[in-house]
Amino acid sequence: MKLHSDPRERVVLFAEDLPWLDSPAPGVKRRMLERDGSEIARATSIVRYDTGSKFAEHTHGGGEEFLVLDGVFSDQFGDYPAGSYVRNPVGSSHAPFSLQGCIILVKLWQMDQLDQTKVVIDTSQSQWLPGMVEGLTVLPLHSFAGESVALVRWQAGTHFPRHNHIAGEEIYVLEGVFQDEYGYYPKDTWLRNPPGSIHTPFSEQGCLIYVKVGHLNF
Ligand SMILES: [Fe+2]
Ligand SMILES: [Fe+2]
Repeated sequence: MKLHSDPRERVVLFAEDLPWLDSPAPGVKRRMLERDGSEIARATSIVRYDTGSKFAEHTHGGGEEFLVLDGVFSDQFGDYPAGSYVRNPVGSSHAPFSLQGCIILVKLWQMDQLDQTKVVIDTSQSQWLPGMVEGLTVLPLHSFAGESVALVRWQAGTHFPRHNHIAGEEIYVLEGVFQDEYGYYPKDTWLRNPPGSIHTPFSEQGCLIYVKVGHLNF
């Protein structure tokens, strides 16, 4: 299956418009944002665990990165409430479940195998840093070999200078509305700007976004 698998394609998807598709596990459904492969796939998805559901023990052959959007995700190593950011490196394995149910943003097979750092960050307890312009605050989540992931909070009325994404940019809107000269991206919009793209972003009402840059030259 190939779905938005060409990183040179600009993609804007409103996740709420996408169907919940069955996964191999009962009670676990997903909305596919991008996919290249079948069950073993380079993929970015929104995955929903119903109350009491679980997913079979599996190994992350290409690494797994997720952000918990709602509820509590769990595995044998811990419980990860909404706002948790987790990276399970290439070769790691686990058996996930959710007692109360949860929704997560997941990225599979997008990790450098040399990047063996296990990351667990509770973003609700973390220290935010000033951003490049007034009105922006940044919570760095991870960086490796040119790839950089962060949460960025925009106060209402914040404007950012025009810039080029040399190796691409990917955004998921967590709260509020993110904007640029090409569109209006409310909460639950997934935006992928290809390598070499340019824009001038702003937010009239304020927003919170997940941002990854430097990873789309493949
Ligand atoms: Fe996993
Ligand atoms: Fe940008």
